Amino acid sequence: MSKNEFLKDFMILNQKMNGKPIVYLDNGATTQKPSEVVKNICGYYGGCNANPHRGAYELSVRATDIYESAREKVAKFINAKNSREIIFTKNATESLNLISYSYGLGNVNAGDEIVLTIAEHHSNLVVWQQVAKARGAILKYIYLDDDGNLNESDIENKITDRTKIVAVTQVSNVLGLINDVKKISERAHSVGAIIVVDGSQSVPHMKVDVQSINADFFVFSGHKMLAPMGIGVLYGKENLLEEMPPFLTGGDMIEYVEEQSTTFAELPSKFEAGTQNVGGAAGLGAAIDYIEKIGFDKIESIEKNLTTYAIEKLKKLPYIDLYGCNSTRDNKTGIITFNVKEVHPHDVATILDLEGVAIRAGHHCAQPLHKFLKVNATCRASFYFYNSTEDVDRLIEALSKVRKVLKIDS
Ligand code: ALA
Repeated sequence: MSKNEFLKDFMILNQKMNGKPIVYLDNGATTQKPSEVVKNICGYYGGCNANPHRGAYELSVRATDIYESAREKVAKFINAKNSREIIFTKNATESLNLISYSYGLGNVNAGDEIVLTIAEHHSNLVVWQQVAKARGAILKYIYLDDDGNLNESDIENKITDRTKIVAVTQVSNVLGLINDVKKISERAHSVGAIIVVDGSQSVPHMKVDVQSINADFFVFSGHKMLAPMGIGVLYGKENLLEEMPPFLTGGDMIEYVEEQSTTFAELPSKFEAGTQNVGGAAGLGAAIDYIEKIGFDKIESIEKNLTTYAIEKLKKLPYIDLYGCNSTRDNKTGIITFNVKEVHPHDVATILDLEGVAIRAGHHCAQPLHKFLKVNATCRASFYFYNSTEDVDRLIEALSKVRKVLKIDS
């Protein structure tokens, strides 16, 4: 079985865990960082560190250039109309909090409806519960069909002329199924609602065009796409961002400050209070360069092969229950969620760890989805382009030991 050609760029994956070569299958939680990204972060701190936007001196100018060129790269990467529509945040969660406070609280009134899918990560769910509670609005959910795809009639019927906001993930972090957000966006706009798209599990794995899907807001985290933790993105249509009040206030987001009042800076600074994460932006810019060098055609093809290969093997194991692996549509990404019959997912993950295989176990920040699936917790293996069929074989081999270790099978 083949080793992956990109593995050499990921030093961390060339080590052993519990005495075995590491198989990292928790890319849905965070990806590893290639040397190019690490080099760029070190390069920033080693050669350019200064507070951006504030100094007239050379180092500060360099820091500003690095920060703003990363913003330009992000804008191009997701095809925003211009870089004023790109706000740097800490992560997708902060981006969603920003939207819910600055847009949600100002635009949702008593009796209005907010429509979510039952497959949302808590970060795109709890924020809307808070808005609904604060404004006396109603939360409605689009549920799933037997294959785990969004129920078509729910999309049609739950989004009505009372809907103000539709918040939907582009790819479920549990089922790995791609939602047709363009179609949902059309439905939302037809009733005068706006759409918020969580792209945390899509942007690292497929080409995203925010104008083509006509997203009003689109969010993602850098750390799930090779960049460091602590840098995230909020894309918003310029006219919406212009009308919204700031989320956080303080330095760098102002125009004039008087004793009793303040006018705010232009976009995007209005939403970037305080000293920003320039090292993180440098890493995100390098991550985009690295991804674009490989190309999404290749990334998607590697992940599709791995997913098909893994599902075929897992389906042959009588003691495995799979979730979201029967979609007849071609909309499955490299996230495979499963359970080992009669074994708690945490025990599965611990036994796999002893074999050097890292997966995630639990509710994956999606408790309502697990309740809908009538299961408390699951195991999740999530691939990225640096994984190989050899990794899948190691996963399968480790899984074959779980029930024996626990003496359920002999
Ligand atoms: N949101 C991350 C995941 O799904 C942490 O694992």
